[in-house]
Amino acid sequence: MIILGIETSCDETSVALVNDLKIISNIISTQKIHEQYGGVVPEFASRAHMTQLLPIVREAFREAQLTFKDIDGLAVTCGPGLAGSLLVGMCFCKGLAASLKKPFIGINHIEGHILAVNAQGLPVEYPAICLVVSGGHTLLIYIKEPTKYKIIGRTIDDAAGEAFDKTAKILGLGYPGGPAIEKNAKTGNEKAIAFPRALMDNDNFNFSFSGLKTSVLYYVESLKKNNREIVIPDICASFQKAVSDVLVEKSIRALQEFKCNTLILAGGVARNSTLRECFEKQCEKYQKNFFVPAPELCTDNAAMIAKAGHIRLQKGEYSDFSLDVVPNLSLSDSF
Ligand code: KG4
Ligand code: ZN
Repeated sequence: MIILGIETSCDETSVALVNDLKIISNIISTQKIHEQYGGVVPEFASRAHMTQLLPIVREAFREAQLTFKDIDGLAVTCGPGLAGSLLVGMCFCKGLAASLKKPFIGINHIEGHILAVNAQGLPVEYPAICLVVSGGHTLLIYIKEPTKYKIIGRTIDDAAGEAFDKTAKILGLGYPGGPAIEKNAKTGNEKAIAFPRALMDNDNFNFSFSGLKTSVLYYVESLKKNNREIVIPDICASFQKAVSDVLVEKSIRALQEFKCNTLILAGGVARNSTLRECFEKQCEKYQKNFFVPAPELCTDNAAMIAKAGHIRLQKGEYSDFSLDVVPNLSLSDSF
């Protein structure tokens, strides 16, 4: 089965082709226009998707050396995301599905992140615990099997990626904040500043990151007031360690409580090499299997959407033309 995937939920225009075994092509174009505004401007995002989507579809087919006639179905992100951006992908998908007379399916973007490791063809064993850490979400999920999920924990305020982005803004490091913080942290001392690890000792699986960001703000302001040097690498390294500690601690605890041997780390923040190393080390210590997508499959991409579509279409599921985008779509318990 060859599936075409389309992802336009935020500021990445991406198109991919996957088959039963692997990703055949996965073209990702990150919109640059937003950098000068310090965050994504929704109207600019949808306009850029409009101009970029068709050339990227053509590029994906060219790279895969396939034609429209070769595909068996289509998958498109239907939410969560920016309404206008989602609509561009959705309308394109419906138009193509209608003209090719092929089935299509709307995919929850969060499920896409969860299944990125499957898109890569990694031998994931279930049940598993998955931590999704992206710009909009921080979720701990019990996965019985692909498409069967139970949410066991979530952030009660900012998402982990949002904390990276807001902290980078406080430090004047630009947007997106995650890569900038990671780069600066490389030369910093992670023990330099004792930032808080919120909810770490609570016996639930929820997270909170807004206090951490405020803590960085107060720390920077106090240095400025006292005319003391602001050592950006130390702040970045200490911040990154505080985020990693909480994420790792709760994920390992979830594995133990739900008697799972597999941990999956997913979402844009999973690109962070310190975080990846912390998870790898702890999983090794507790003898758990650890899966994390290749860096380019952690941030938004269409291969993960195509894979989710592949799994669902193969089960006989599909959407009809009344399907609409749902900007605030959540991942709900499915068993
Ligand atoms: O999954 P994603 O591409 O989009 C959403 O679905 O939100 O995640 C984007 C988030 C941003 O907050 C960005 O700062 C963060 O992922 N991110 C990182 C890194 N690369 C991207 N955070 C930490 N370290 C990174 N290297
Ligand atoms: Zn995402």
